[in-house]
Amino acid sequence: MRFEAWSKALVTQPVDCLSVTVFEDSGLSETAKSVDAASGGRLAKLVQSGDFAGKIGETLLVSELGGMRATRVLLAGAGPRASYDRKAWRRAVTSTFAALLKTRIRSVAVGLERPADRAIDDYTYGRTIAQLAGNSFYRVNDLKTAKKPKPAALESVLIGPIRKAGISAARRGFDHGQALTAATKIQRDLGNLPGNICTPSYLADRARELGKTHNAIKVKILDEAAIRAQGMGCFLAVTRGSDEPPRFIVLEYRGGKAGRAPVVLVGKGITFDSGGISLKDPGGMDEMKYDMSGAAAVLSSLAFAALVELPINLIGLIAAAENMPSGRAIKPGDIVTSASGQTVEILNTDAEGRLVLCDALHYARQFDPAAVIDIATLTGACVVALGAHHTGVMANDNALAQELVAAGVRADDRAWQLPLTEDYAEQLKSNFADMANVGGREGGAITAAAFLGNYTKGLKWAHLDIAGTAWLGGARKGSTGRPVPLLADFLVRRAGRG
Ligand code: BES
Ligand code: MN
Ligand code: ZN
Repeated sequence: MRFEAWSKALVTQPVDCLSVTVFEDSGLSETAKSVDAASGGRLAKLVQSGDFAGKIGETLLVSELGGMRATRVLLAGAGPRASYDRKAWRRAVTSTFAALLKTRIRSVAVGLERPADRAIDDYTYGRTIAQLAGNSFYRVNDLKTAKKPKPAALESVLIGPIRKAGISAARRGFDHGQALTAATKIQRDLGNLPGNICTPSYLADRARELGKTHNAIKVKILDEAAIRAQGMGCFLAVTRGSDEPPRFIVLEYRGGKAGRAPVVLVGKGITFDSGGISLKDPGGMDEMKYDMSGAAAVLSSLAFAALVELPINLIGLIAAAENMPSGRAIKPGDIVTSASGQTVEILNTDAEGRLVLCDALHYARQFDPAAVIDIATLTGACVVALGAHHTGVMANDNALAQELVAAGVRADDRAWQLPLTEDYAEQLKSNFADMANVGGREGGAITAAAFLGNYTKGLKWAHLDIAGTAWLGGARKGSTGRPVPLLADFLVRRAGRG
């Protein structure tokens, strides 16, 4: 798809369709008024007739209004003007693209009114439009045998009006938005794939493929023997019960100055989490195929950085394994030694994410990182605390945590910081080892982070718990692509390209 920004009047654009906002109470937006004037008042008449109420999410395609070069006008409802905000704007944009994709329209000029939100600068404006347009093309990678419908016709999107000085920022936004669409697709497709296809070896193959597509990405895969050589006793404990071999994946993208400290992203890559001997309840267990969403987010982030050639050094680490019960599986009470040398009493084999992550986080030290961020579908407790709305952020560095929260706001992929004070680590005390892998029901999302905190001392580290945000239940069951937009924004700002 092609994107462009214009600075002149909407009605002069040589496109198939003009898209404008209609408010629920006060009628036409500024751009809609210019369309109305060109058409000799026909748009206002149509709205007055009551045929289009301007309710949020509503759209109406009108042909041959006359007086302009476009043959169609697409109205998008935006709700009451007084409450028109970023969220209402996104809904109007999303419903506009959903409506366009049902037609044979090939080019559109999007004149939807921008909300008065200073955080939506020209860059963010361009990025969001490209991202929402791209995401509207996303089809779930199902394995249904019925023929897929033919792809939509839309190929060119104009946005505006934008003041001349903002056009280059908007164009950079288009590039980043398109890369974000591609990166988010990686994340969603992997999360949706079943555990019998998306295995640790499959993730390793996808990583290798990423290295082939992008010269700037180098990939190294550690097999079980190499993982053992690293002394990753906690990681190996998790994979023991499975017949699928584990993989430790190292990706390096060196887009920044040589010698500049890298950002290290660490992903939980449990390709299926049965709980192990502490077996999960069967209800909804199928969904535990998305327990590798953190790993997928790492692949997506590296793909994004390479696609837009971000001037930043970035390392991706993925601990990929399956958590299964068997005669060889770890048992409650077993004690293992992590790569850091600390011993862990495994009281619950279903708390496996922190076990694979603690060894991956220790591996991150060799890169002398500027920041380490792990991404994991780590706890049901985080879903209870924040629901599907906010990703949980916990960190040993407040500034880093707030940097991630701010990135989430700009990317409309929100996150919320939880308090990781020393109190929580006390819940992990064990009589038999340096620590236990669980700390009881209370504050479960934070005790999980406190466990990881024992492996990140001296690093600037943040943990993103995406158990609630990476997946949607119900009718739209499937992977959401979160927190790729948040991470992309974070990396863009770190690279000074926002
Ligand atoms: N992968 C799960 C966390 C999870 C739960 C993700 C629900 C998405 C939805 C994780 O490995 C897990 O099982 N955590 C346990 C930890 C407990 C045993 C301390 C949990 O949250 O129940
Ligand atoms: Mn588990
Ligand atoms: Zn898990």
